[in-house]
Amino acid sequence: VGAPVVLLSHRGPVSFERADGQRRAVRGTGGLVTALTGIAQNLGDAVWICGVSTEEDAAVAAEHQPEGVRVSLTAEPRLLAGGEADRPALTVRFVAVDPERHRQFYTEIANPLLWFVQHGLYPLASAPVITPQTWSAFEDGYVAVNERFAAVVADAVAGRDDPLVMLHDYHFYLVPELVRRRAPGATISHFVHIPWPEPDGWRVLPPGMRDRLLAGLLGADVVAFHTDRFARNFLYCAEDVLDAPVDWARRRLSWQGRQVAARAYPISVDAVGLTAAADAPAVHEHRAAIRAAHLGDGRQLIVRVDRTDPSKNVVRGFLAFGELLEEHPELQGRVTFLASLMPSRQDVAEYADYLAEIGAAATAVNARYSRRGWQPVDLRLQEDRSFALAAYAEADVLVVNAVNDGMNLVAKEAVLLSERDVVLLLSENAGAHEELAEPALTVHPYDVVQQAAAMYAALRMPAAERRRRRTAAAEIVRGGDVSRWLQRQLDDLAGLR
Ligand code: F6P
Repeated sequence: VGAPVVLLSHRGPVSFERADGQRRAVRGTGGLVTALTGIAQNLGDAVWICGVSTEEDAAVAAEHQPEGVRVSLTAEPRLLAGGEADRPALTVRFVAVDPERHRQFYTEIANPLLWFVQHGLYPLASAPVITPQTWSAFEDGYVAVNERFAAVVADAVAGRDDPLVMLHDYHFYLVPELVRRRAPGATISHFVHIPWPEPDGWRVLPPGMRDRLLAGLLGADVVAFHTDRFARNFLYCAEDVLDAPVDWARRRLSWQGRQVAARAYPISVDAVGLTAAADAPAVHEHRAAIRAAHLGDGRQLIVRVDRTDPSKNVVRGFLAFGELLEEHPELQGRVTFLASLMPSRQDVAEYADYLAEIGAAATAVNARYSRRGWQPVDLRLQEDRSFALAAYAEADVLVVNAVNDGMNLVAKEAVLLSERDVVLLLSENAGAHEELAEPALTVHPYDVVQQAAAMYAALRMPAAERRRRRTAAAEIVRGGDVSRWLQRQLDDLAGLR
């Protein structure tokens, strides 16, 4: 890397649990953490700052204040004893914040408000309603938590020469400016992993929020996204909302005498690590069970793997499947929709409601079309990585019909691991669509008739065409391997320095 790196993300690379009196380290989850952990060896002696997720994280944090813990990320993550060396290893600094402030920050502002605004999920005739409670959650939660994390980042870069600060995601939009004030010598990037809307979308937030959040982000030298479309939207918002002059050809703007670049670095997956993980015994067992339950005799399988997030559009996916069975009755008994869904953010009302809607939509299709020996939708509410890898391998069709999505790594993982030449149904609003439109079948997130027609086309597609598309998609994913994702950012930041 050549420079000390300080990373910040809400979820960390590792989390601690206590079972039978023993402390155990487990890998963090989520695409961002998986991607960064897979390439930790490229990060030198990085410090990774993150929030505490469990009580045991808080205990670890308290025992190792303020220097953080050394964690080995080789096979399974583990704590390193004082002086013990291993590679790749990182220093992890957990930040504990007051639980009430964290609740306001996470369950009122980051989710749902920012998430819904940026994914275009609000029905604007009725939501959002910005109340006094929202304003206090913004000030006492989001702003306060950002200040707390910014102080830890500033402390971690203090005394280092030309540090590189890589901030991540919508939880921390105010941190770049706060860090710049305290550490003017730092080169700062902020990666936004979720979509960035056009100005009309961003203006759903009142000026007291939208201007401050944007100005906070403009403390960075580079604001990074997964797609060029989101980078353009961001520049457009800064121009429209803050009157910042934009150099469109160079994809950058002027702000307070500095240049701020908006760049696209599409994230990918660790193809080698993923292929190895898919060969584990647990994955093979799940594959055998999926085949026994749903395949054989020419039967086919539609799969989706998601968090139960409203942005993933699970309900319309089931409506489309119902439409398919209605339009093509010959498929009844021949095709199953297997959905492996991980309940997510259930302390946010909108998410709890959406999970209930998912259950109701699956039940409605099953009630209408089930027959002896066949149930059309197999809904599994679970967090099971081995099962997900097995489902990718056995799928004939993978549904990614997101309302909006920053990237969607499920699409990339599935085309790599497919053993049945999966046909990818990919929303035109998923970030991955910028790379995978050609080999995929594009779906429109709101049109369930079109989604049903795409399911039908995928199920009936000749084997040779399925193979051609799947191979082409896998080639694209391999070509954008995740280590290149990081290297491109580091090269650009080195250029800026
Ligand atoms: O990409 C957005 C993101 O917030 C990731 O940072 C995270 O891994 C994932 O969504 C899951 O969200 P949460 O951390 O809120 O469970």
